[in-house]
Amino acid sequence: MITDLLGRPLRDLRISVTDRCNFRCPYCMPAEIFGEAYQFLPKDEILTFEEIARLSGLFVGLGVNKLRITGGEPLLRAGLPDLVGQLASIPGADDITLTTNGYLLAGQAQQLKDAGLNRITVSLDSLDDEIFKAMNGRGFGTRRVLDGIRRAADVGLVPIKINAVVQKGTNDHTVVELARHFKGTGHIVRFIEYMDVGNRNGWKLDEVMSAAEIVARIDAELPLEPAAANYAGEVANRWRYRDGSGEIGVIASVTQPFCADCTRARLATDGRLYTCLFASNGVDLRGPMRDGADDDELAGIITGIWNRRRDRYSEERSEMTETGAGMSGRKVEMYHIGG
Ligand code: GTP
Ligand code: 5AD
Ligand code: SF4
Ligand code: SF4
Repeated sequence: MITDLLGRPLRDLRISVTDRCNFRCPYCMPAEIFGEAYQFLPKDEILTFEEIARLSGLFVGLGVNKLRITGGEPLLRAGLPDLVGQLASIPGADDITLTTNGYLLAGQAQQLKDAGLNRITVSLDSLDDEIFKAMNGRGFGTRRVLDGIRRAADVGLVPIKINAVVQKGTNDHTVVELARHFKGTGHIVRFIEYMDVGNRNGWKLDEVMSAAEIVARIDAELPLEPAAANYAGEVANRWRYRDGSGEIGVIASVTQPFCADCTRARLATDGRLYTCLFASNGVDLRGPMRDGADDDELAGIITGIWNRRRDRYSEERSEMTETGAGMSGRKVEMYHIGG
């Protein structure tokens, strides 16, 4: 086990397999910037499945037990079940999961399950078609995503989590409906406070609906009680329906930052390693790997990066917000590291 400068171990690796996406959520890849002419990464700059699996094996050797595949939209990467199969064969990779927008999920769920994926998380910000169309920036309705969720449940990619980013003035009035829809299904809706990730979404604090407010709204109609965390450092705070029909989660990264327990590393599509969702720079692992570094050398590089880690961006942001100061500096874009 390795630890960083704040004593935090390395437990989760989030792996971005593509920087492309079929959605254009304005808070992540606004359509006016990511148009036809936008240059995504060329193929030779993207890690191959073999490279990803090799690095993942090294991370597992250093203490990681959860691997999460992200994007962009990971289901756009051709042959993804092959990668899942390679990851599933790493001894010690106990939890292999994936975060998707769900649009292509119905057609791929069975293959992913067969390859060894354990469970899945689907992003769905609202059940209201008009709001959803605006929030995915492509005018897509919710039907295909709901079909994908149904299919994933049928093939056993459970427990299914549904991630909803809550943006005040955009979809905050639809949170109760979303909770109600999945109550009793075994799926866990997790409401995420809108964050200042990336540099392009023009984030404003007054667009954040706090987790406390989200819980209060749902509790007023569907009574809730707090539940204990499943494991130390769990990102979501859990709330259970008092009538025993399931649970929801809230991810309060703005109002109650959880950096103190953050055990996540992020491997970007191009092989850079980021030690925080809000980092400005990542360290290139692809270069040394393609230059012939052996496993010990690569593990040494990763250990060095983690040992020097002191990131606690969300905590610093709240300290700054309290004193009225602003955060500065360019941050990595969300679609390079998948949230
Ligand atoms: P489980 O393994 O199911 O508990 O999920 P997870 O916590 O890995 O969840 P997921 O990838 O679905 O994360 C949900 C969202 O929480 C992400 O998409 C981010 O928006 C946010 N999030 C996750 N990790 C971090 C983090 O380290 N820092 C911050 N600030 N936000 C995070
Ligand atoms: N704030 C909070 N969550 C975000 N996501 C993307 N951008 C933001 C943001 N600005 C979410 C996506 C998805 C996950 C990968 O991150 O909706 O559920
Ligand atoms: Fe695509 Fe997810 Fe970004 Fe939306 S938030 S544009 S679905 S990567
Ligand atoms: Fe971890 Fe950075 Fe998120 Fe804090 S802001 S929880 S250090 S990823």
